[in-house]
Amino acid sequence: MSNRITVRVGAAVADAAPELWGLFIEDLNDALDGGLNAELVRNGDFEFDPSERDDFHHLTGWTTEGAVEVRTASPLHPNNRHHASLSGPAAVANSGWDGIRATAGERLRLSLFARATAPTRLTVTIGPGLASTELDVAPGEWRRLEADLTPTATASGELRIAVPAGADADLDAVSLRPLGEDGEPLQFRPDLLQALKDLAPSFVRFPGGCLAHGYGLANLYHWKDTIGPRWKRVQTRNIWAYHQSRQIGYTEYFELCEALGATAIPIVAAGVCCQNSPGGQHAIAESQMDDYIQDVLDLIEFANGGPETRWGAKRAEYGHPEPYGLRHLGVGNEDEITDDFRDRYARIEDAVREAHPEITVIGTSGPATHGPDFEAGWPYARERGTAIVDEHGYHSPRWLHQNLDRYAAYDPEGPQVYLGEYAGCTSRVRSALAEAAYMIGMERNPGVVRLASYAPLLARVGHSQWTPDLIYFTADEVRRSASYYVQRAFGAERGERVRAVELEGAAPSTRPVPETVPAHVRAPRATVAFNDIVVDGRAIPDAVAVPGDDGVALAEIDPSAVDIEFTAIRRAGSDGFELRLGSDDPLGSVRLHLGMSQGRDTVVFRRDDGIDDWLSTRRRPEWSDGEPVRVRVRLDGPRLQVWIDGNLHHDLEQDLRPEQRVVAGALSRGGTGGTEYVVRLVNAEDTEKTVRIELGHDPGAVAADVELLAGAGPDDGAFFEASPVLPVRVAVEGEDGIDLVLPPWSFASAVLRPAA
Ligand code: AHR
Repeated sequence: MSNRITVRVGAAVADAAPELWGLFIEDLNDALDGGLNAELVRNGDFEFDPSERDDFHHLTGWTTEGAVEVRTASPLHPNNRHHASLSGPAAVANSGWDGIRATAGERLRLSLFARATAPTRLTVTIGPGLASTELDVAPGEWRRLEADLTPTATASGELRIAVPAGADADLDAVSLRPLGEDGEPLQFRPDLLQALKDLAPSFVRFPGGCLAHGYGLANLYHWKDTIGPRWKRVQTRNIWAYHQSRQIGYTEYFELCEALGATAIPIVAAGVCCQNSPGGQHAIAESQMDDYIQDVLDLIEFANGGPETRWGAKRAEYGHPEPYGLRHLGVGNEDEITDDFRDRYARIEDAVREAHPEITVIGTSGPATHGPDFEAGWPYARERGTAIVDEHGYHSPRWLHQNLDRYAAYDPEGPQVYLGEYAGCTSRVRSALAEAAYMIGMERNPGVVRLASYAPLLARVGHSQWTPDLIYFTADEVRRSASYYVQRAFGAERGERVRAVELEGAAPSTRPVPETVPAHVRAPRATVAFNDIVVDGRAIPDAVAVPGDDGVALAEIDPSAVDIEFTAIRRAGSDGFELRLGSDDPLGSVRLHLGMSQGRDTVVFRRDDGIDDWLSTRRRPEWSDGEPVRVRVRLDGPRLQVWIDGNLHHDLEQDLRPEQRVVAGALSRGGTGGTEYVVRLVNAEDTEKTVRIELGHDPGAVAADVELLAGAGPDDGAFFEASPVLPVRVAVEGEDGIDLVLPPWSFASAVLRPAA
């Protein structure tokens, strides 16, 4: 491979997708409660419930002193049934998320509802010793009380509310929020908001992800539960096994979009819940479907209706008389494409089309870039003439480098693609560069890919359910991943036209295939015996894998041609076993997992760069203890076949195509001094490249601002850590183009303009 490359930027070939890069926001990893939500008190409503998570109770987040009970009599609101009842001397103290972060000199607004049977003075402290105030509770019904506190030092502490001896008080909806410049409590945590603004997103998707279609029908996200005064909102279990306060609900979502200068893409459930809920996918009952569809139409009215409409008037009542200008609506998230789904989806889409032809509906195509739901979801969307389909793809860096031409093969006649969730699945530099390469592939196909959002966006360190994430944070720190800087470069510098690019000196690369690799079995949750093992006609001694061990190496095999058979018997435990052909990184392996998902699935994975790509899933009767299964696996070049008890179960081609690891893309736009060019370059190789970028029409003297992300190794970077490398900006000048040095494992985004 040459170390000199030339990028020739040619003619404009298409209009760029104007809103391509956006954000995916889901309350996952404490992204909202404990994250973007500026609220410092955790469980201020005393609504955490054991039904949401075994270790939750109504005083989660609080410590108590003296006589404190949780009561439900005469609640603050039917949606906020529990409150704390204190008989003095008594106190409750909240430590927020990892302590309440108090900053010296920052004004904080305390608000709470209280009631008492006799005049009572509450002593409120942020402590120890950071700030204090007193609140008088008059006898009678629930009253809202407020006070501002200004901590004298920066520290993590707790908010303590005490009732004196002989007095009593009920407390609810306790809140502590920093004040903004306008003297009002902040909605969004400022440093996280800034991190989102810097991404310059065109759109924001909300509320998920799986959160949108919920853990069972009772857990679907209903937007009407999430607007209006916070203390009246319906709080519930989060599908990610915590609590949703809904303090960032639909009102705040639309406000966030405005603050970011982005358009909203709400996702509503397609009338079915998440198929990973207990008992699988369920559909909203026939008798409730009309109401559900009306709710969806009401959401559009809430966003866009005039003040004379019922829901437009509600929006105005909540402080926003102007419409939000909603243009898109996603229906469904990663749903299993069943008859129930088709029926419910069709009715929702038809109703929106009829009542709101101005709204573009986005359909769904299952959880992956392939597989049964993808294969069923796309034809269904075509059949229905759905304008845009939401596709999701979490993949290894290798897969991304192999597949960046994926969208060139799509039918430009539609539907178009919203790549609603994607990631290169580590927080390493290798993944960030693979994502950049794949994003160049998306930019090149604006007639196909209209929208894309990396997922997930935010994760609080120590409180996460999913990695990787674009932005990690603690109470007082925002840690931007290397992927973040890639996203920021694409978001911040856009073009209007896609330019043809000729890349000379770069060629796709193929990973070497070792002559032999181990065939290996393991059973992390079961004891499994492997008998009558035959590898390429040769008998091998029996083996047993037990939980907790590393498994057993069966034989060294040729990774391009092998035939293995054995009988597996689970003696005890749950789940099944894995047969891995190949070592793990860097050269990759394929793996058969028999008995996944409570013993029911057989799944084939390919693992590269430390990441599993899911290749094929088949359901079979649940595997039970003592039941022998005869397994045969045959590898012949890329072809992998798996027989279970003599029946062909998987027959697939592994993707062994070369990877495009040196990649260039270009856009152009009008500038004050003439046409400007945005050129993106990825060098995901070990060698430095000397690059010449030539602008085909000989524009004369050119000045360029280049943002370069370079200087770390491919495997530098880790979950929950800030990027091991920061982008640097360099100014470059040249004649008819520029010369650049692209270090190993780097990404550059250059804006070239005529020199002044
Ligand atoms: O991004 C995290 C989760 O991944 C989303 O909630 C879901 O849609 C996907 O499976």
